[in-house]
Amino acid sequence: MNLTFPIDSYTSETILIGNAPFHYRKWADIPYVSKPVSDIQKLTVYAPESIFSNQSHFHYDQNNAPILIPNCVGGYCEGPQAAPLFTANGQMNMVLHALFHGIVVVCPGIRGRNTKNESDLYTGKAPALIVDMKAAIRYIRKNKGLLPGNSERIITSGISAGGALSALAGCTGNEPLYSKYLDEIGAADERDDIFAANCYCPIINLENACSAYEWQFGGIDSFSGWLGQGEHTEDQKKYSCLLKAQFPSYLNSLSLTDERGNLLSLNEDGIGSFLEFVKEKLLESANYSKQALENSGSYPFLTYKDGKYTDINFRDYCRFIGRMKQAPAFDNPSLSTPENDVFASSSGTKKHFSVFSRSMFPGPFADEALLNLMNPLPHIRSASLARHFRIRHGAADRDTSFAIPVLFSRALANAGIDVDFFMPWGIPHAGDYDLEEFFRWIDKICTNDEN
Ligand code: DHB
Repeated sequence: MNLTFPIDSYTSETILIGNAPFHYRKWADIPYVSKPVSDIQKLTVYAPESIFSNQSHFHYDQNNAPILIPNCVGGYCEGPQAAPLFTANGQMNMVLHALFHGIVVVCPGIRGRNTKNESDLYTGKAPALIVDMKAAIRYIRKNKGLLPGNSERIITSGISAGGALSALAGCTGNEPLYSKYLDEIGAADERDDIFAANCYCPIINLENACSAYEWQFGGIDSFSGWLGQGEHTEDQKKYSCLLKAQFPSYLNSLSLTDERGNLLSLNEDGIGSFLEFVKEKLLESANYSKQALENSGSYPFLTYKDGKYTDINFRDYCRFIGRMKQAPAFDNPSLSTPENDVFASSSGTKKHFSVFSRSMFPGPFADEALLNLMNPLPHIRSASLARHFRIRHGAADRDTSFAIPVLFSRALANAGIDVDFFMPWGIPHAGDYDLEEFFRWIDKICTNDEN
């Protein structure tokens, strides 16, 4: 199969924004690999008509426009191609908003843990999702000059497992460990590093996510959320204590520092400068939020003094937002989490992936090499990193510990990367809620980064 962009095979589309017609070009359903194993491995390219006549009011043209790659992966299941549309509450979604902003958008379909072939074998288990993303990135590079936009300004974006995929794309550029998987599906022989990654509430660092969760929620034994509600059993209380005790040594092993160069660490009780740093991020968020400041009397876990919040009781705040997942939160005894399924075999045998659950519960363990391919952290010092990251994790998100995005942002910043990290107040596990700001960030990094 030929991987040349069919430049003339587009349709001209029009959508009403307000009362004004908005025009864009659409190249639909192009296979991005030469040996696909799933029908989902196709992408659609969208470009605003205005960039072809230099009339984009955001000054992007067909050569310099950034190329945004949003993905629709959720729960580590396969992600269909995104498309421009209005959301149920009448807002432009990310794709439409990007087009309106003068940006080229490439929407790949991505395999996930539920993808199967005709023989009923799973073809989208780890590391398929990042392999597909890399193949789509390589397709764009291969078609430099044909496909509209600037292939040195590729920006990925996703939410949750999709945020993890964006983080992986940003951290693993040109990493040879993925080559054999890319060759298998016939990906273009090109670079796959990107310019920037936007990650909403990324569910990353899965091997350490259970202990991080207990560092934050340990001692809170009621859980409730879409996975069910109830109370921890005595066994689960024991798992929680054991896991919580493991987190400080992991965190300390990273030797992270804050913006001023101070070491971020934890003592064996999980207390220390890293906890203070997480609290600072929450306070920064509360003080930025008009809603939080207007309700200054109603948050007993926050100390309010002289017109701003000056302290937060972390334990009480975690009780306030509540525990969502049961211990262990990601790698559980019955192998029934989405993450156990991410590492499953092609016949569907689910696997453990954390040292703790391997030692405690029966069942097969994931291939260690796969763990490495699915975790952005180990690649930060070796791969071609994206130069800019934007990470958002709602201050009311309970799907993974605050520690996970915080330590990720510090690991990137400590490696010299430009990181815009924020924990918006009152926001649960969600994404795409701040698109105006997102596009301002894109304008800023594209304007300020001349490389
Ligand atoms: C997602 C949410 C989770 O809580 C999780 O463990 C994995 C993925 C998601 O929304 O994509």
